[in-house]
Amino acid sequence: MAEVEIRAVSKAFKKTQAVSDLSLTVGDGEFVALLGPTGAGKTTTLRLIAGLEMPDRGSIRIGGRDVTGDAPADRDVAFVFQQYSLYPHLTVFENMAFALRAPIRRVPEAEIRAKVREVARLLHIETKLDNKATQLSGGQMQRVAIGRALVRSPAIYLMDEPLSSLDAKLRGEMRLELKRIQTDLGATILYVTHDQTEAMTMASRIGVIEAGRLLQIGTPREIYENPINAHVAARLGQPAINLLPAALFAGAPRGARTIGARTEHLTIARGGGDVSGDRHADRASRRPEPSPSRPWRPTRRDVVRP
Ligand SMILES: Nc1ncnc2c1ncn2[C@@H]1O[C@H](COP(=O)(O)OP(=O)(O)O)[C@@H](O)[C@H]1O
Ligand SMILES: [Mg+2]
Repeated sequence: MAEVEIRAVSKAFKKTQAVSDLSLTVGDGEFVALLGPTGAGKTTTLRLIAGLEMPDRGSIRIGGRDVTGDAPADRDVAFVFQQYSLYPHLTVFENMAFALRAPIRRVPEAEIRAKVREVARLLHIETKLDNKATQLSGGQMQRVAIGRALVRSPAIYLMDEPLSSLDAKLRGEMRLELKRIQTDLGATILYVTHDQTEAMTMASRIGVIEAGRLLQIGTPREIYENPINAHVAARLGQPAINLLPAALFAGAPRGARTIGARTEHLTIARGGGDVSGDRHADRASRRPEPSPSRPWRPTRRDVVRP
């Protein structure tokens, strides 16, 4: 595994600026999630790292080496695609062994067998190794697709919404399993998703991406508690943060347009119908904790930029 660094990378498709001046470092052994809606530039970012797209500007380094001009095969990355495609006529074992059988890798057959079995065990598909890929449920096929990447030990695993086609229950299970496997293997992963729960539960750091720009990167807690603007604030949290016009609050700081208050920061007052909060909203303030006699009033730091 190795550190991967993207420096000021931009990529346009005709008039669409898919990725704009994006810089990001995934540390060796780190699990970073890129979180953003459809069209944000997530897949393009992964494809740029893998060498499936060439950047218009900027550079990509893997393990300290500039790979910007290198072919995909020379970059030592493993890609789990959103639309996974298994070879239907091959067994699960053969599907997983496929990447290891590439002539340039020259992996001995005994080693291939041992590796495939080990990864199949991690993914709980060891009893399916002799099945044809078509004789699997959707969840099992997805595991095989992930397994095909995990049998290798590349510099980095690039995963493009690998759980998005699973039903909610399986997705929840796979989140936990993937996180456990990543920790066990010490794997370096850049994981792309539009699902905030996935990002919050699996990643050590989350990059919030929108319209090709990385808006903020930090630990889940940093991004949740200290979002840099209203857009990032709204991306994380269930229920979503309450973004209210500052004019509703008598005590709003001068110039404030929006007040962000997370649900857990609000208390419903008895009687007078006053809205108060037991803690500040995001952009934590350093003022003292409010008490019943001193209802919550937003301060400058409760204000999130629109
Ligand atoms: N090969 C392509 N040709 C033209 N436009 C593309 C191509 N790939 C991506 N785009 C555009 O770039 C933007 C970012 O796409 P993508 O990286 O796939 O976003 P995401 O994975 O976050 O949904 C979108 O507007 C998309 O339509
Ligand atoms: Mg995508």
